[in-house]
Amino acid sequence: MRCSVLQFTPIFRDIDANTEAIVALIASTHSDLIVLPELATSGYFFLSRDEAAQYAEPVDGEHVQAIVNAAHEHGRLVVCGFAERDGDALYNSAVIAAPDMPTRTYRKTHLFYKERFCFDEGDSGFFVVNVPHLDLNLGTMICYDWRFPEAARTLALRGADVIAAPSNLVTELWPRVMPTRAIENKVYLAVANREGSEENGGEVVSFNGRSMIYGYNGDELGREAEIDPKQTRAKSFNSINDIFTDRRPEFYA
Ligand code: ACM
Repeated sequence: MRCSVLQFTPIFRDIDANTEAIVALIASTHSDLIVLPELATSGYFFLSRDEAAQYAEPVDGEHVQAIVNAAHEHGRLVVCGFAERDGDALYNSAVIAAPDMPTRTYRKTHLFYKERFCFDEGDSGFFVVNVPHLDLNLGTMICYDWRFPEAARTLALRGADVIAAPSNLVTELWPRVMPTRAIENKVYLAVANREGSEENGGEVVSFNGRSMIYGYNGDELGREAEIDPKQTRAKSFNSINDIFTDRRPEFYA
């Protein structure tokens, strides 16, 4: 199957223009799995709940549904970050949509920096969806979740072949760590990071692009790659060792 990570520069607070751009990208990208950045519809650097709430919508809201409809219409599996409203709660979420499965929403578990002033901590937990037409088991984590090896490990233990990581990454450390997450779990890791800067309240944050699909041996495969999810399922790497059955959880904190 073919996988793409789409790097672009959302316009801060312009949910209509961003959604239009995302729908056009989905239409023009001939890949089975398309991963877009974190908070791709709204932009990122909100400073308060009131501000984020203006750009948040339920998963059946018009902008998220335009993305889901594009996934269905073009026969793609799409993972895309958006600001989610559920009653009074606000989440930094990713919608996961494909024609042959129910739409799911992952809510970011670990909140980064001023996200803490805007969003609730995600309550979806780390789950894996099976995508029948691709024979794929897909897990999702969002950006700062990378700092917690438990996130990718939990997804891998739950059967993920590929981890999609919608991101708005800002540090220089993550390219050193993402391939490690792939190797230690023997999974593909598809990191869609955004570019550009956003200013709010006199502070600027800059996002550093470098989106990448990592192979299960940590290789950089590019932003568009042929991948074979089945290859990740046997966790042995010689005739004796297997990175999952060799685990000794009784000694882990
Ligand atoms: C981040 O979690 N957006 C760095």
